[in-house]
Amino acid sequence: MTQPAFALSHTLLAAANALGEVESGRSLTDALARQRPDVRPGAQALAFYAMRHWGYASALRALLVERAPSNPVLLGLLGLSLCLLDVAMQGEERDADAPSYSAHTLVDQSVSAAQSERSLLPFKGLVNAVLRRFQRERDTLLARIAGDDAARYNHPAWWVDALRRDYPGQWEQLLQVDNAHPPLTLRINPRCATRELVMQAFADAGLASAASGEAGLVVLDPRPIASLPGYAQGWWSVQDAGAQLAAPLLDPKPGMRVLDACAAPGGKAAHLLELADIELTALDVDAQRLDRVGQNLARLGLMHKNVRLVSADAARPHAWWDGRAFDAVLADVPCTASGIVRRHPDIRWLRKPGDIGHTVRLQRQILDALWSVVAPGGKLLLVTCSIFPEEGEMQAKWFLSRHREAVRLAAPGQLLPCAPGPDDPAGHDGFFYALFSRPAAEAAPA
Ligand SMILES: C[S@@+](CC[C@H](N)C(=O)[O-])C[C@H]1O[C@@H](n2cnc3c(N)ncnc32)[C@H](O)[C@@H]1O
Repeated sequence: MTQPAFALSHTLLAAANALGEVESGRSLTDALARQRPDVRPGAQALAFYAMRHWGYASALRALLVERAPSNPVLLGLLGLSLCLLDVAMQGEERDADAPSYSAHTLVDQSVSAAQSERSLLPFKGLVNAVLRRFQRERDTLLARIAGDDAARYNHPAWWVDALRRDYPGQWEQLLQVDNAHPPLTLRINPRCATRELVMQAFADAGLASAASGEAGLVVLDPRPIASLPGYAQGWWSVQDAGAQLAAPLLDPKPGMRVLDACAAPGGKAAHLLELADIELTALDVDAQRLDRVGQNLARLGLMHKNVRLVSADAARPHAWWDGRAFDAVLADVPCTASGIVRRHPDIRWLRKPGDIGHTVRLQRQILDALWSVVAPGGKLLLVTCSIFPEEGEMQAKWFLSRHREAVRLAAPGQLLPCAPGPDDPAGHDGFFYALFSRPAAEAAPA
């Protein structure tokens, strides 16, 4: 990724703005959406790279600037420029997909970026001094941060400690998967396409792809989604291979009444509708996100009269339930999203240790409420995109101890994130799956 130098200061500034917003608690996706459209793609590439190296960048910045700057854009610019300058100084050793600029260009353009933003103007000299000192003292500075877990693994230290405790044999590998660039994985829509048709259309457009799992496809030459063949026709959806397991686990059959209780943006809801002519209620507490469910289903040709979109709190069924029980309920409950960090590298920096307890409580409220709407003989699928056991196996055990009539059926349990390999071009994100059924006729008390 090489850009003309004249544009680099603008791109650096947009990326620094977005990174500064993440420092202030906003998601990177939202922060990038607020940047100028002409520099957004370049800024996104730089900001994603920086987030995957933020532990390292922040540790260096802390050594080079005595007091942490209170200006979030300055924090963003210093961290980003340090990451990129380090790559520039790695020479032959740098990763093939790392942004490559000369050290001279980077220092010059970082100072220009500071010069072009009013709030950064007073710090122009600081940016210059920090980057030049890094150039002079790189080896010594790197030696000083070598023992720092957050810098070494590019995750917060509490997160590294949690994985070390929960996955003693795998924690380093899990952290590595989080830091790798994820593949672009698609799910074919069997209502209007086959995998062969899509692969042929990609090949005709000069794009390599590879089959993955039951219905998946990996795009080996990723491009902007809307420019890929078949997007407008609804031939496929973007969905990680791990997420593609959800809908088949509920085994939808024609005529079944299905509830997707946390549906937005609609990936799993669409998959359910692709598999059978069901009656679907798609619920989400966030009305704006629910709009995206409607848009996604419409693009895929799945927005039929048997689909009901409802904006409501799944934990309060009295507000949205008509009293008719569901044959299948998908509970893709809100979680820390610790399993999808390779696709959303900001998540690790946005989360705080206390967030796990909060999501666990919320999940329990939702699960309790949803169990009450499952028909006798019906199923409830608990899904999280988390690898923290508190949101996975511990939650499934809690559910069984609370709802003793529930029967646990076969499901993958904890699926740990996995990098693409020779036998599996997609790899997958981290998910937890537990499937429960309500006995058809509950035994009468003796
Ligand atoms: C993991 S996402 C769901 C992803 C979705 N199932 C898919 O496959 O595209 C979790 C969703 O739960 C929604 N949510 C959070 N709390 C909720 C609640 N109390 N009731 C209903 N939806 C909720 C969020 O707005 C978010 O869209």
